[in-house]
Amino acid sequence: MMKTINRRGFLRLAGAAGVFVAAGGVWRAANQGVFSAGTGPAYAPWPEWRDAPTAPERVVAAGILASNPHNSQPWLFRVAATQIDLFADHSRQIGTIDPFLREMHIGLGCALENMLLAAAAEGYSADLSLLPDATDTRHVARISLTKASPEKSQLYTSIPTRHTDRGAYALDRSLSDETRASITQLVTSDEVRLFWLTSTAQKSAFGEAAVDAAAALIADEQQSQDSHKWWRQRWSDVQQYADGLTLDAQALGPAITTAAKLLPDSARQENDRIFVDTLRNTVVPNSAAFGILAIKDRGNLAQHLVCGRDWQRIHLWISTQELAVQPLNQMCERADRERQLGLQPVFGDRVAALIGDAGWHGIMPFRIGYALKAATSSPRRTLASVIR
Ligand SMILES: Cc1cc2nc3c(=O)[nH]c(=O)nc-3n(C[C@H](O)[C@H](O)[C@H](O)COP(=O)(O)O)c2cc1C
Repeated sequence: MMKTINRRGFLRLAGAAGVFVAAGGVWRAANQGVFSAGTGPAYAPWPEWRDAPTAPERVVAAGILASNPHNSQPWLFRVAATQIDLFADHSRQIGTIDPFLREMHIGLGCALENMLLAAAAEGYSADLSLLPDATDTRHVARISLTKASPEKSQLYTSIPTRHTDRGAYALDRSLSDETRASITQLVTSDEVRLFWLTSTAQKSAFGEAAVDAAAALIADEQQSQDSHKWWRQRWSDVQQYADGLTLDAQALGPAITTAAKLLPDSARQENDRIFVDTLRNTVVPNSAAFGILAIKDRGNLAQHLVCGRDWQRIHLWISTQELAVQPLNQMCERADRERQLGLQPVFGDRVAALIGDAGWHGIMPFRIGYALKAATSSPRRTLASVIR
């Protein structure tokens, strides 16, 4: 779940921030990173992604820039001269938002895709083995490297420019059939399928499910709390933890972001309410289309990893165009929660209806459109903190 601030909230924030600045809040502005967005050690992994001394470390440095749930970065790596092992870090699981580790494994698949693109660019042929240890599902993948001629793909070069865009997308540009076909072609495994929702009826069914799911999620005290744990309002926390969801990544524009940074932390319930309002009023209506990536077997972790690779590839390709994307996972987060608690599958059924094919399970819903502004980067933990 992401936090965003609507216009009403902004006016309240801006007014209070004005008083604050007048009262000598410049020190707090500096302290809250108002003048330093995207800088400091928490953002260094972006510009420095090719600086690591060895090629396998540079492959990992590409991996940690991948998309991942709540920016929890649930990964650990073991690096040898010709082999890299990827492990799931369950201590970074996002609680009741992801009870079956669906999102965690999609995020780990995203990291794998970046790593395989980087391995090729570093001059390796990579042999990928998913879940290589049948006795330990935390051992998610092994990449074995053998020397080959370097191949720097367009997707590889877009690794540091890919960012989740939570802003409004252009209302006057729709997605052409050709663009959709180009994206669909990026899904190469027959274990994953991309379902598009482009008609007015489909888009409104998706939008309503997304908003209703977000409302249900914030009404679930435990899910609300578990999501909030990853919210980093203070600049010192952004720099210290180098993870989680930040104000700068919410695409609120400079005025609202500054106002929000200057104020004391807002209460979780207030943030939750603003989040749902923004989803309803800004995010959903300002999207060109929606999609859902689906897999055949929702109990199969390897298929989640493959789906993550596909999502990352789509997001990288999108970054080479004028397009923008944002996952909208609340409907799947509620579907998982229903399964976890043995509740009626209200959102489970709604996701299934959006897919419309009983042979497939939707696990990665998203919005897409033409970007209005450049999206900003999120913090990342350093290589040293993720290599075991
Ligand atoms: C499995 C998965 C689920 C995600 N769900 C959401 C979501 O519901 N809403 C959202 O705004 N971003 C979502 N994201 C995007 C992440 O929050 C984002 O990748 C992370 O914060 C890092 O930021 P970056 O993608 O800009 O590098 C999701 C990403 C993944 C891989």
